[in-house]
Amino acid sequence: MIVTIDGPAGAGKSSIARKVAERLGFEFLDTGAMYRAVTLGAIRAQIEFDDVDALVDFASGVQLKWKNSRILLNGDDVTEEIRSPIVTSAIRHVADLPAVRKQLSKEQRRIAKGRDIVTEGRDQGSEVFPDAECKIFLTASSEERARRRQEQLIEVGRHLPLEDVLRSQDARDEEDRQRPIGSLRPADDAVVIESDGMTLDEVLEKALAIVAQKQV
Ligand code: DC
Repeated sequence: MIVTIDGPAGAGKSSIARKVAERLGFEFLDTGAMYRAVTLGAIRAQIEFDDVDALVDFASGVQLKWKNSRILLNGDDVTEEIRSPIVTSAIRHVADLPAVRKQLSKEQRRIAKGRDIVTEGRDQGSEVFPDAECKIFLTASSEERARRRQEQLIEVGRHLPLEDVLRSQDARDEEDRQRPIGSLRPADDAVVIESDGMTLDEVLEKALAIVAQKQV
């Protein structure tokens, strides 16, 4: 069974998708990490982001592997480094390219084939797995998402004004929505969870209930 969980940045997709997978005994695939790893690779290889041919060429030769929930880029563990702000701000140059999306989507389908898996991203239910048995679109208002993000940043010692968090989040939302292919949108048959005011556990239980309904 394939369960897709899509939604905007900061909606808590990763934590929820991971926990749903854990509770069901399913595998988990973080597709954002794949886009992040290719972006980091391109930065390391000093590829100019306006050189589309070089980017596509690089992406097609890159080797991504998962090992115990860690992501390896050409054999190098980049699990932490892909979360750096430099990668986050450059990601659109990679994620906007149809040829790169095609390649990563193919890889995602290969990984999921024949498995019970929860895949998390932006386009999983709408484009990569249109036939997935269960599709969830997890969202929350921009203010709520920015507040949660601000709290996470404080936990790692970064104190940013809410307006700054909100501004960069809005910019990312816009990029994710405007992408010509693989844009952020719920699939027609996705169940939407609007998580404002809900605790992580409440969202988890709701997501599990949605999956259980599709399992019968
Ligand atoms: O979920 P995340 O923040 O790690 O994703 C990073 C970026 O990767 C996100 O801004 C858009 C892109 N992405 C994508 O285009 N398609 C996906 N399936 C997942 C992520």
